[in-house]
Amino acid sequence: MPAEKEEVEDNTDENMEGALIARDRVGVQDFVLLDSHTSETAFLNNLRKRYQENLIYTYIGTLLVSVNPYKELDIYTVTQMQLYRGVNFFELPPHLYAIADNAYRVMCSEYNNHFILISGESGAGKTEASKKILQYYAVTCPTTEQLQIVRDRLLLSNPVLEAFGNAKTLRNDNSSRFGKYMDIQFDFKGAPVGGHILSYLIEKSRVVHQNHGERNFHIFYQLLEGGDKDLLCWLGLERNPQKYAYLIQGRCAKVFSINDKNDWKIVRKAFSIIDFTEKDIEHLFGIVASVLHLGNIQFEEDSNGHAIIRDGTQIKWISKLLGVHLSILQESLTHRKIEARSEEVLSPLNVDLAFYARDAVAKAIYGRTFTWLVNKINGSLANKDSTRKTVIGLLDIYGFEVLDTNSFEQFCINYCNEKLQQLLIEMTLKAEQEEYELEGIEWEPIPYFNNKIICDLVEQKHKGIISILDEECLRPGEATDLSFLEKLEEKGKISQTILLPGFTLKLRKLVILLPCSRKLADQKTRKSIDWVDFRLLHYAGEVTYCAVGFLEKNNDLLYRNLKEVLCNSKNGIIRECFLLSELDNRRRPETVATQFKNSLMSLIEILMSKEPSYVRCIKPNENKEPGKFDDYLIRHQVKYLGLMEHLRVRRAGFAYRRKYELFLQRYKSLCPATWPHWHGPAAEGVERLIKHIGYKPEEYKLGRTKIFIRFPKTLFATEDAFEFRKHLLVSRLQAKYKGCLGKREYQKKREAAIKLEACWRGALARKEAKKRTWAVEIIRKFINGFINRKKPLCPENIEFVKLVQYKYFMKLRDHVPKNVLDKSWLQPPSILEETSEMLHKICIRNLVRKYCRGVPAERKVQLQQKVVASAVFRGKKEGYLQSITQPFMDTRLKENDINPKVLQLIQGEKIKYVTPVIKYDRNGFKPRDRLLVLTQSSAYVVEMAKIKQKIDYATLKGISTSNLSDGIVVIHVPEDNKQKGDAILQCEHVFETVTKLCMLANKQNLVKVVQGSLQFRIGSGKEGTMVFTVGQEPQVFKAKNGQLTVVSTQAKS
Ligand SMILES: Nc1ncnc2c1ncn2[C@@H]1O[C@H](COP(=O)(O)OP(=O)(O)OP(=O)(O)O)[C@@H](O)[C@H]1O
Ligand SMILES: [Mg+2]
Repeated sequence: MPAEKEEVEDNTDENMEGALIARDRVGVQDFVLLDSHTSETAFLNNLRKRYQENLIYTYIGTLLVSVNPYKELDIYTVTQMQLYRGVNFFELPPHLYAIADNAYRVMCSEYNNHFILISGESGAGKTEASKKILQYYAVTCPTTEQLQIVRDRLLLSNPVLEAFGNAKTLRNDNSSRFGKYMDIQFDFKGAPVGGHILSYLIEKSRVVHQNHGERNFHIFYQLLEGGDKDLLCWLGLERNPQKYAYLIQGRCAKVFSINDKNDWKIVRKAFSIIDFTEKDIEHLFGIVASVLHLGNIQFEEDSNGHAIIRDGTQIKWISKLLGVHLSILQESLTHRKIEARSEEVLSPLNVDLAFYARDAVAKAIYGRTFTWLVNKINGSLANKDSTRKTVIGLLDIYGFEVLDTNSFEQFCINYCNEKLQQLLIEMTLKAEQEEYELEGIEWEPIPYFNNKIICDLVEQKHKGIISILDEECLRPGEATDLSFLEKLEEKGKISQTILLPGFTLKLRKLVILLPCSRKLADQKTRKSIDWVDFRLLHYAGEVTYCAVGFLEKNNDLLYRNLKEVLCNSKNGIIRECFLLSELDNRRRPETVATQFKNSLMSLIEILMSKEPSYVRCIKPNENKEPGKFDDYLIRHQVKYLGLMEHLRVRRAGFAYRRKYELFLQRYKSLCPATWPHWHGPAAEGVERLIKHIGYKPEEYKLGRTKIFIRFPKTLFATEDAFEFRKHLLVSRLQAKYKGCLGKREYQKKREAAIKLEACWRGALARKEAKKRTWAVEIIRKFINGFINRKKPLCPENIEFVKLVQYKYFMKLRDHVPKNVLDKSWLQPPSILEETSEMLHKICIRNLVRKYCRGVPAERKVQLQQKVVASAVFRGKKEGYLQSITQPFMDTRLKENDINPKVLQLIQGEKIKYVTPVIKYDRNGFKPRDRLLVLTQSSAYVVEMAKIKQKIDYATLKGISTSNLSDGIVVIHVPEDNKQKGDAILQCEHVFETVTKLCMLANKQNLVKVVQGSLQFRIGSGKEGTMVFTVGQEPQVFKAKNGQLTVVSTQAKS
């Protein structure tokens, strides 16, 4: 087993894995891999081994062989469906899902139509297979919420059609008694969007007759089992099939494998999903019940030998349910309308004919109702939009069957199977081999049995069985089934034995014996053929048909008066099925066989236009027994299904072929030389392509117009490479596209950025230019202003001046002096000198004011004294500058230092200042220590406890000091007796004492600073002179000339 398969198997669940390992052990999953592919025994062995391991599916190339397991297998789960979804055909073990998925994928990728032909004999599992495929599509295909309803309808159309069209037969408990071809329509996204069903020839005879061990159509039993009481009551039915003649002929109304009650529920639910109205359902069951009532009508002979209805109960119900007039219905069942010349005459029927008429009505209404049902379902499945759709058709037709007594129905069924076999041969074996020849591929033809000759025998114009039958039906005169048989014998003589050319006798000894009746048969055969039989050797084996009833069934006639009754029915379905226009049509309708033949022709045409997939179903045993592998039966089926031939063609042939153009178109991306375009002939392109991919010579052949690939694995490898490549190309495309988008976006942004930049640069440049213009203007003004700065204010210089002022003021703001002693001042530009001066002054004043405000009261007094001192002495007396920094004291001595007596004497006067002084006598100039006490109003010279001299400030005439550094102070007093004369004092703090004195006396202007000498009054009119000189040492002495000489040292400057 290839590694890839193992890998997939590893992923499956335990059961499946077990099964697969078993499969590996027990056989090959593709018959093509059989060593002895020509051996039927090897073929059967492989099939048996697999079957016994529950591996019911095996491939022959792409054809699926399925053996009915007759038991539920765990291989139809949703997980399984997902497993097969989108996976290459041969990558997983054979399965119906692989066939379904392959058809679906090819449909999606190539956008073409497909069909899956499911064939095999009755009970082989065709219907089950078709249902499983439908389920697969329902589960795995993409769908939307709106499409869900279509999906449900597709799925639920099955139980409805099966209820009305399937029945239990001896071969199959759920045997399809009609042919069904169902198209599933897909939209371009691969979602199932609609469907259409074609039905083929329902076996109407079953309505009135069933063989032993068989049943009527399921719906009758379902209705009786499942229908609720009210419904049955309304329909006039009893819940007991044994009560109905049409249901008991097979004597097996109850079958253990069928759950009618459950099935009824499903059908009821399906009706509501498939858009049936309550009225439709009512009418439909009215018809079903009417059929049952019809079956219970019994006739008896009257005195004239005419048929009369024995009991009127049933007919009443039928009249009610079908909405027809009772008496007319009654009459139409017992009479026949005959047209004699232009008159219509009612002719009574005998009992046999009455039964015939009754059954004919039952068959007709059931048959046509079935057709109505299919149409109704089609209406609900129809997709209304006109967009192009692709389809996958599922063909599930009744299988080939051989009963004990084979009638017209089996003839039709088997003919249909014959046609499908022919189609398969045409489309596979024959077409395949012809194609090799046509394409010039070396090929050794493989003989196979072509059943065309049997089809011809049945359907050929004039000579075919159907033609002969029709001829007998239509010819005037007494035609009977026997006369038909005679005609058949006549033709049979001519074509009694035909040997097919090229067909090995080993495979099929007597190729065909056409047709064979008792008369024509040899001694041995004669024993098994009755006088009313004829025998056909079908592709699937010999079948003996009983000709009885062929003509009647082929004619399918319903008495005109019965038709008239039905045309006038009040039951909507019946009225739709029996149109009045039919009565007016005088042309004979086509016979049943011809209709069937024509519908098969058109089916074949439909199928031929589509891509086929095949499922060949095999029935393992006749007893519906699980696990039983009946070698004989299966060998027979393998043979007639042509599986061996198919295998041989497959082995010798090629798994895949494609026109060069299509192959190249699909895979050209795999080779650089052909991608993206190949300009030469397609064949050469393909050659280059496969060389590049590395096909080995035995893997392919090049035909005239097509390439042939021998092994599926080669194709799948190519397909895989293509898938891979596709992704690569898609990502490249995406990348390119994204790149393009990105580039476009980038370009756009870039352009925008450039535009923005340009705009911004423009704006900046304009701004800059404006700035420059402005600057130039300013500079120009500045220069102009500068040039004209000296002129009086004029427009040329006004701004310059302003600027200069501004600048100066701004700068000045940061450079104003911070205290009164700071003499610095910013040099003003010449135009602002005046202002600056003023400002300076204001500033100083401001500072001074600030300073003054901050000065305390005593200090203020001191300063005032200093100011007075300054006014008096500044620049006049030596030592003044040095004294400035020495603050004046309030007093040099405290009051305590004054003798209390003196204090007493000057009581009442506030003492302001006291200082020790030296007093020089006016005569001898003797120095004496005294105190100088200054009060508010007078100055006192005090010696101890005595006041030596009191000088009233009011009388004070002057105060003199020298300009030198001595401490001499002369207080001039007026010349009166009381006064002793001017007081000559020497004090240490001369500036302080003089200042205080003159301030207290308020006579600052009387202070004189003299140079050289001064005159003083000694008293009593005498005057003395005092001389001031500079010497080495300070001295005061009386000079020889009697003048008081005061020597002072040169003060240090
Ligand atoms: N895959 C399957 N798994 C389990 N049981 C199956 C399977 N296929 C068929 N069967 C059983 O076989 C029975 C017959 O199958 P089915 O009805 O599909 O046969 P058919 O080929 O359609 O016959 P006919 O031609 O009579 O309609 C089913 O009712 C079912 O019990
Ligand atoms: Mg079937």
